[in-house]
Amino acid sequence: MSYKNWKIEKDDEDICWLHLDVADSSTNILRFDVLDELDDIINDLVQSLPAGIIFVSDKSNGFIAGADINEFTEITTYEQASEMLVRGHTIMNKIESLPCTTVAMINGFCLGGGMELALACTYRVMCDNKSTRVGLPEVKLGIHPGYGGSVRSIQKAGPMAAMNAMLTGRLLQGRAAKKMGLVDDLVPERQLKRAARYFVINRPPHKELAIKDKIMNHRFVRPLIANQMRKQVAKKASKQHYPAPYKLIDLWQKHMDNPRRMLEKEIESVASLVTDDTAKNLVRVFFLMEELKTQGNKKDFKPQHIHVIGGGVMGGDIAAWCALRGFRVTVQDQKPEALAGTMKRSMSMFKRKFKKDKRSIRESMDRLIPDTNGMGVKHADLIIEAIFEDKGVKQSLYKDIEPRMKEGAILATNTSSIPLEELATCLNKPDRLVGIHFFNPVALMPLVEIVRGNNTSDETMTRALAFGRQIDKLPLPVKSSPGFLVNRILMPYLMEAVEMVSEGIAPEMIDKAALQFGMPMGPIELADTVGLDVCKSVALILSGGETLDLPKKMQSMVENGNLGKKTGKGFYKWSKGKAIKDKKASYGNLQELQDRMIMRFLNEATACKREGVVEGDGLIDAGIIFGTGFAPFRGGPLHYIQQQGVHELSARLSQLKDRYGARFSADDAWNSL
Ligand code: NAI
Repeated sequence: MSYKNWKIEKDDEDICWLHLDVADSSTNILRFDVLDELDDIINDLVQSLPAGIIFVSDKSNGFIAGADINEFTEITTYEQASEMLVRGHTIMNKIESLPCTTVAMINGFCLGGGMELALACTYRVMCDNKSTRVGLPEVKLGIHPGYGGSVRSIQKAGPMAAMNAMLTGRLLQGRAAKKMGLVDDLVPERQLKRAARYFVINRPPHKELAIKDKIMNHRFVRPLIANQMRKQVAKKASKQHYPAPYKLIDLWQKHMDNPRRMLEKEIESVASLVTDDTAKNLVRVFFLMEELKTQGNKKDFKPQHIHVIGGGVMGGDIAAWCALRGFRVTVQDQKPEALAGTMKRSMSMFKRKFKKDKRSIRESMDRLIPDTNGMGVKHADLIIEAIFEDKGVKQSLYKDIEPRMKEGAILATNTSSIPLEELATCLNKPDRLVGIHFFNPVALMPLVEIVRGNNTSDETMTRALAFGRQIDKLPLPVKSSPGFLVNRILMPYLMEAVEMVSEGIAPEMIDKAALQFGMPMGPIELADTVGLDVCKSVALILSGGETLDLPKKMQSMVENGNLGKKTGKGFYKWSKGKAIKDKKASYGNLQELQDRMIMRFLNEATACKREGVVEGDGLIDAGIIFGTGFAPFRGGPLHYIQQQGVHELSARLSQLKDRYGARFSADDAWNSL
């Protein structure tokens, strides 16, 4: 019998090698047809049982990446979800109860449903290389493991390690997975097949859970640990906005004594989550992220050498990040001490990123070369300029370096506010100038805005987008207009927050209102963190627009040198990198505060749509989510407007305009939403 997605190979030791190569897909995913075929195969194998079954991937890019998220989006009712989950459970249970030994031979990514299949096997052997990772990242899509993975991962790795992996959704490298007990062996690629065979033939005993894990799993102890877990989760995600981790904790607390029952309850729990708005919106965010990635896939541009000019806050970190991502980088600054600072900060970044992997730290350091005299200019395929935000200074640098630049090299500026057209006037080849606007801190912010000026050529633009992807960022194409997308959207929201402080409302309450909406950080804390001087200069650039006035409070704080976190005092006092907040602060109507901030945010998003700052609603939402952290579970501002109702929200805007003035005037875009 032949199958579309699976190939069965029997060897002379009566071992059945079950090869998965999902048809019409670059990656192995557990589509319905893949599972249906697997069900048939298992039913057949039960009739003439082999000595063992080894699951193998025939794709070069991994084992199994998980369930098919497209199919996920087609589910609209609890019943449909439950039916899908029961089908998955039935197959996983069948694999688990096969009388012969089963082994998952994991090479490359093994995630979500793929990991759940591996967990249903008797053993898991994992390839010891950098590209192989295992994980149960379902929480990132607003659900938790739904093919028996919650029960089986806890049985294998113990509650603390397994719950931690599921609650954070993080991916695990071989050593961590082996230490936890999620996989049974970790071997170099050349020994992978031999190791899988060894497990089938020898059936070594399984490692028992440690006593401490057994205690944690005890029904008297579970409520205490579960409460601790809830507290930890609450620091990152509220129950109201992200129910999945809380449901997973409940599941474990209530049912771990009876694994069969827990499996059944897992189905109920996930079925109720799948149809929830949060999961639907997080799936949307997943696809938006993929859309951003594809922006960088249109060209295979990989610069051999990058030259960064400016070793300050941004240039230093940009240079370090590029070296970390494998590029040879020279970094130039007019001040030698700035370069010394860059090298020191880079070392910290590499250590944070690579931890004990000394080789990767050393190799990244070797790729980063301080270059006081700018020798790198003539070798570079890409020059990134991140010097002072001053048109004259930038232009005199361009005039100096352009004659020495390689034919075809790109000149990218990290400017936050100077129009590219103005900068380009001094260039002989203005088509090679593009904006690559990074966000601070470079290592943590996933988005880069790739800015097209009037003169930027298509070729330069596509190469810059491709470069954004090469350094593992999400590249967003934007028009060269004041504030681009992210700063432009953020500023009215921040300014409204500052306005409220001027009215005497406690910063703590303003931040609380924004957090309740689902923002990752309150606007006042954000302004203090970015620096009030930086906020002021961006706000001034944008204040030419009709809707943005600079609050007086902001002016006076900057004049008095209270710039926020960096000076120890801004709207908050800062100590050891943390804002000191007044826990007793109170305010009657948080909803009003929230509406004032969010409505300005949404209004600006609609204006950007009308002006075509970014092409397409999906990319606007994507840019805003990954650039500002806009509550991901709401699926992006434009999507949120549609979900809440255009009429309801524009009516609210009009009420706010009556109460607070013209800055709440609805953008014309609302009429066409
Ligand atoms: P910074 O003041 O920390 O660093 C600028 C560096 O450039 C200094 O070390 C200075 O010595 C060097 N420099 C100035 N003129 C030079 C020249 N002619 N040749 C060589 N080196 C020169 O500034 P920061 O914050 O890193 O900003 C740099 C650029 O990045 C600006 O255009 C800014 O608008 C933009 N930006 C800043 C962000 C931030 O959060 N600070 C965020 C995104 C963009």
